[in-house]
Amino acid sequence: MQTFRVELGPASHPVHVGSGILGELGRLAADAGLRRGRVAVVTDANVARHHAAAAVAALEAHGFAPSLITVPAGETSKSASVLETVYSRMIEYGIDRAGAVFALGGGVVGDLAGFAAATYMRGIAVVQVPTTLVAQVDSSLGGKTAINHPRAKNIIGAFHQPRAIVADVDALTTLPDREFREGLAEVIKYGAIMDEAMIGDLERDLERILAREPAMLEAVVARSLRHKAAIVSADEHEGGLRKILNFGHTVGHALEASAGYGLYLHGEAVAIGMAAAAALSQAHAGLSADEASRLVRLIEKAGLPAGLPPAARAPQFAEALRMDKKRADDTVDFVMLERLGRAAIRRLSFEQLLSAIAS
Ligand SMILES: NC(=O)c1ccc[n+]([C@@H]2O[C@H](COP(=O)([O-])OP(=O)(O)OC[C@H]3O[C@@H](n4cnc5c(N)ncnc54)[C@H](O)[C@@H]3O)[C@@H](O)[C@H]2O)c1
Ligand SMILES: [Zn+2]
Repeated sequence: MQTFRVELGPASHPVHVGSGILGELGRLAADAGLRRGRVAVVTDANVARHHAAAAVAALEAHGFAPSLITVPAGETSKSASVLETVYSRMIEYGIDRAGAVFALGGGVVGDLAGFAAATYMRGIAVVQVPTTLVAQVDSSLGGKTAINHPRAKNIIGAFHQPRAIVADVDALTTLPDREFREGLAEVIKYGAIMDEAMIGDLERDLERILAREPAMLEAVVARSLRHKAAIVSADEHEGGLRKILNFGHTVGHALEASAGYGLYLHGEAVAIGMAAAAALSQAHAGLSADEASRLVRLIEKAGLPAGLPPAARAPQFAEALRMDKKRADDTVDFVMLERLGRAAIRRLSFEQLLSAIAS
């Protein structure tokens, strides 16, 4: 197991990454200072089938009295109505201010349960127990929680730092292949923006990662979270530095919105977005052609798409890009690479951006 701290002053907290550590959830929660007593374990139907019993048993073994709250799997559970059922169950069960929520699942459960904890009785403790690769390398760390509104994603939310993050890489063995590969896009992102050696290690170890060897997963998840922790510590509320985490996301979000939600998984759209950003970085930030193609090869080797689809030339794509990023002065702050392992923000006019993408 690897353990390190996210340094956030009074909101500092430990991160544990390892194989089989779900069985230690009770001990790790007690070590984090949580009161033994009534707690909620929020999960979704898929995760419940594989991992809820182990989490509940691990908590009971250390004097916690967990109530399991299972929501339907999928993005639609990040809604006000599902949130209300979570609150109802917490009230019925008698969770009080010293209680806690365990968010056992992917980013959907992490965001929903995290927001429930942020708001229930004006905020109670949450422990993030991520079970997808996306959640283990990205969404569990940083304190961002949210639900969706029918008209906008993640529009109702709060910053609420977890008391601990417990990422058991064994949970990833039950994750469907496409969702696993999707998470690798965010892993590659960390290498691209801040750790060139990580790109080399990924090139070397990718087969073993795809085979989900526990030691490989522990190494890759811990390294990713350490990188995210460093950025979040320096910029807890997304003032500046944290923007580099959006590498690949400007084009990615526009693709998600314009190609029709559901066509691409988020990580797949980000993979395409990173390849597009690498091309732009050659023209505007000094990335070499060799480095750009090295990044694209790694994306493809991970089984992710890298080429812009025809949809990126449709007016809906331009419209989605404009909606997402338009500033008052019609420019876009775009995350580029000066070289592999070093990100830089370059301001482009919207027209420059669109014409580069169309070429
Ligand atoms: N808060 C943040 O900083 C942040 C960052 C990135 C993404 N997000 C949010 O995260 C969400 C996406 O997260 P996600 O990709 O983890 O999606 P998800 O939570 O929907 O999980 C994907 C699928 O995998 C299933 N699943 C989860 N763990 C499993 C396991 N171990 N075995 C088998 N099946 C499992 C889920 O039931 C679901 O069907 C989005 O809502 C996004 O907005 C938040
Ligand atoms: Zn992302």
